[in-house]
Amino acid sequence: MFALRVRICSTSLPKGLLVARPYASKPIPPPTTIEGVTHPADSWTNLSPTVVSKLGLNLHLSPDHPLGIIRSLIESHFDTFTPSIPPSAVVTVRQNFDELGFPADHPGRAPSDSYYVNRDTVLRTHTSAHEIENFHRGLERWLLSADVYRRDEIDSSHYPAFHQMEGASVWTPANISSLPSLNDALRQKIAAASSPLIVDDPTHPPCPTTNPSQPEHDPETLNFMIDNLKLSLNSLLLTLFRTHTDQQGEPLQIKWTQTTFPWTAPSYEVEVLFGGKWLEVLGCGVVKQDTLQRSGVPEKMGWAFGLGLERLAMILFSIPDIRLFWSQDPRFTSQFSAEKGIVTFKPYSKHPECKKDVSFWLPQGVDAVEWHENDFCDAVRDVAGDLVETVAKFDEFTHPKTGRRSLAYSINYRSMDRVLTNVETNALHLQVTDLLTSKFGVEIR
Ligand code: DAH
Repeated sequence: MFALRVRICSTSLPKGLLVARPYASKPIPPPTTIEGVTHPADSWTNLSPTVVSKLGLNLHLSPDHPLGIIRSLIESHFDTFTPSIPPSAVVTVRQNFDELGFPADHPGRAPSDSYYVNRDTVLRTHTSAHEIENFHRGLERWLLSADVYRRDEIDSSHYPAFHQMEGASVWTPANISSLPSLNDALRQKIAAASSPLIVDDPTHPPCPTTNPSQPEHDPETLNFMIDNLKLSLNSLLLTLFRTHTDQQGEPLQIKWTQTTFPWTAPSYEVEVLFGGKWLEVLGCGVVKQDTLQRSGVPEKMGWAFGLGLERLAMILFSIPDIRLFWSQDPRFTSQFSAEKGIVTFKPYSKHPECKKDVSFWLPQGVDAVEWHENDFCDAVRDVAGDLVETVAKFDEFTHPKTGRRSLAYSINYRSMDRVLTNVETNALHLQVTDLLTSKFGVEIR
């Protein structure tokens, strides 16, 4: 999780495991009050003021916001699914990781990748954190949308707060025999759509070694289930991309690939060909029976998916920078409405960028700290807010004699709404370099 640049596939387990543990010798911050509840802090706490300021803004619930428009489109497409909004982004580590079967050493648990309120509590890193409680409610078809939080690099497609939508469909032994006819209906719906669909699916049948099915599942039923999952999501993508494919007169091209998620087997990702590039848009799979058992519905069988709303909205509305979703500038907000649906964003300005470099030596000996780039990115974000566009490392070396490690970063400052003066940028950059010294103990070169 989180090692890959594209968010939606990020719960796969990359090689080179880390063990989640707090940072050593960090001063413990004061308790945090979030949405009226005070949470004690401990050595795991790593919330940043920027990320706390995003809690409760609920962009995805605003009907005229691009994220709200995509959410409504998905809810209308899956009109037999019950939509819901989970109450708070503060969830337990159990909900977010343990109950979904994340191994103890999964990289997604590392405090360098996730925001810990304290040792037992995190800002949810994905909407899957609410899967178990939704199955518990006894719902058979449900959707949920929410804000999620991950520590990450700074560039045009990564922001520490973003939004996801999760959905699932499960069957009881009594109604599972309806799958073949449901699948036929979906096939007909796809064939009748005004824009054609080309699906590249080398994942069928699932590879027994690299994408194993669950021993509990009867192969014939599983095949119908996988077909239902794929047809349902192909049909959703056809709905979402209809405006675009109609305009271009080109068929929508989709590619299915196999992957791993701790709570599904087999598991898949879906990519869409857009602007000549394959872009990953969702993750999904057949829900593991032990997950359903933990949800109190061991007799059921079904599938689940999760998708990133910003990712889809950036593609569908041609929004070039993820920071724009948070903009209050009427030149942004007035371009979108529920009534107009998906429209192409018209950039209103591209103010000049202002690039500043910083090189430094990491502290050594007793003062040595583990360097996590995401700590640095959070600190830059806390100083410069949305005026920081990208942070990129351009040099790294270890001095052959002293063994000291040097790093060099280029920070790009740019406002989306106005021209940033040189004086302003220099002042921001000075604050960043001061913080590097005071917070991380580095020596500026
Ligand atoms: N939670 C996953 C992520 O953030 C996406 C996902 C994958 C959701 C598979 C699911 C699923 O429900 O079955 O990358």
